[in-house]
Amino acid sequence: MAGLFITLEGGDGSGKTTQSRRLTAWLEEQGRTVEHAREPGGTELGLELREIILHRRGYMAPRAEALLYAADRAHNIATAVRPALERGEIVIQDRYLDSSVAYQGAGRVLDADEVRRLSLWAAEGLLPDLTILLDLDPAAGRERLDASRTRYDRLEAEEQDFHERVRAAYLALAEAEPGRFLVLDASEAPEVLAERIRVRVAELLEAGSR
Ligand code: TYD
Repeated sequence: MAGLFITLEGGDGSGKTTQSRRLTAWLEEQGRTVEHAREPGGTELGLELREIILHRRGYMAPRAEALLYAADRAHNIATAVRPALERGEIVIQDRYLDSSVAYQGAGRVLDADEVRRLSLWAAEGLLPDLTILLDLDPAAGRERLDASRTRYDRLEAEEQDFHERVRAAYLALAEAEPGRFLVLDASEAPEVLAERIRVRVAELLEAGSR
């Protein structure tokens, strides 16, 4: 495919949104067309699913949760991401299949390989060209969230242990696929992180002479 698919991953409060905005602005300054995407909730259907996934009260079976994220992913990839990539654009997306492997796999303790296969089925096998992992101690992420909001969604409200498992799973994923991942220490200053990301993306663009 002609375009470039970059995803940002990390725990809640790790600064993904800030970094994806900065990266988008930097690429647009160079005259590139950038599509900003996110999961869950990057499409109209996705917004309805997001509301159910994050805010529905009461128990939700882990497999139901995994399938709802996969449904959101399937629609987002088919209707927003793939068409943009086929037009040769750069897609920068907050969260993708690694979120499902980390949160539903390690967090909810489903089988990580099954969750990955489910996601790949939903997305017809699409893998990112680059995944930026903003690694942060969950306690620090929680402090940042506390400073910016009063209400937690169903996942954010999970206990510390859950978020520790998510972090460990992300690091294991990055270790297993070092070529796809750029792991950054998210406690560093936003400007420092943005520069490291720009260096890696510039290399990628050059390698593909895009
Ligand atoms: P996000 O939109 O990143 O949260 P925010 O409101 O901070 O922007 O994601 C919402 C939650 O969904 C987040 O806690 C992580 C979780 N999540 C999963 O558990 N599995 C997934 O596959 C995805 C994409 C997100």
